[in-house]
Amino acid sequence: MSFPQAVLDAWHLVALSRDMPRGKARKVMCCDTPIALFRTDEGVGALVDRCPHRNYPLSEGRVMNGTLECPYHGWRFARDGRCAEVPGCQVETACDARLAATPLRVLERHGGIFVALSDAAPAEPAFPPDLGNPALDHFWWQQGTWRGRAFDAIENVMDPFHTNHLHHGFIRRRDKRLPVELIVTSHGNGIDMKIEQTQPDTGLMSRFLERDRSHSVSRYYPPTTVQARWEGDTQLTLCVTAIFTPATKDTFTPFACFSTPNGMAPGWLKQAAIRLFLAPVVAQDRKALERQHEVMSHFGQPKFISGPGDILKTRLHHLWMGETLPKGEDPAVKVML
Ligand code: FES
Ligand SMILES: [Fe+2]
Repeated sequence: MSFPQAVLDAWHLVALSRDMPRGKARKVMCCDTPIALFRTDEGVGALVDRCPHRNYPLSEGRVMNGTLECPYHGWRFARDGRCAEVPGCQVETACDARLAATPLRVLERHGGIFVALSDAAPAEPAFPPDLGNPALDHFWWQQGTWRGRAFDAIENVMDPFHTNHLHHGFIRRRDKRLPVELIVTSHGNGIDMKIEQTQPDTGLMSRFLERDRSHSVSRYYPPTTVQARWEGDTQLTLCVTAIFTPATKDTFTPFACFSTPNGMAPGWLKQAAIRLFLAPVVAQDRKALERQHEVMSHFGQPKFISGPGDILKTRLHHLWMGETLPKGEDPAVKVML
């Protein structure tokens, strides 16, 4: 499987700023492209992870004098890909485009490092609301690269029905469902599902993290971002922006930014509470996505049917493919969650 053009043409979150201190180089994968990320005093650089000389991985090199030095013969490359030095040869290399590594556009925004693989990517990544909003406390969560497809992870977070079953006791309960209304709104270039309910969810997470919930909304911002917002009668309680970066066709790197109103509780306490409840939920999703991927790989491809609860049906996939949807709101659907 290759990636849809819309995915290849997007900006991708590949690392958190906090994991890229000055002088560090590391390899990240994005849409099957290995990338050498490195931080100099001037900022972060991103080069295709292949030394143009003899194809050694540049990500294994060290950062020296504002360049990334290849471990094999020591050629040094600047953030724009220019070959700044060929050790032992008294020649001017900087203007020799033939010797250059392949640079990628890279931007650091809201605590993340974003890379564009294609010239078709816009000047700046597009962000959902409240990412980086100074009126909120934010913390990023990241746990390596997972087996599975980024698209299935996006569907997982947009799907409320698995929360009763897979996350029994943590988010909702399978034996104690509540009546809710699901309202799906298509925005043309995105889609959201609002869950209206009169009581908080029955799981532990709601009991600890919520007080006066009246609804939650999950919105897909194609191709790789989903934002879930829990709102009480008066204000936002919690906003989670999840970004699923395709690493290879069989793996993806999930990132999540948790945003809560300033002053609700000390930032460290909110962070500790969220981490405590998140850990088991994340482990359950990770296992489910891995197992699903094993089965799809065994059969060679996915083969999905949509049941009565799958009210987004194939619309997420159309958006993932870069298509737009007719705008409009579906009639509310009453279900038990
Ligand atoms: S392979 Fe990189 S300098 Fe020779
Ligand atoms: Fe889940």
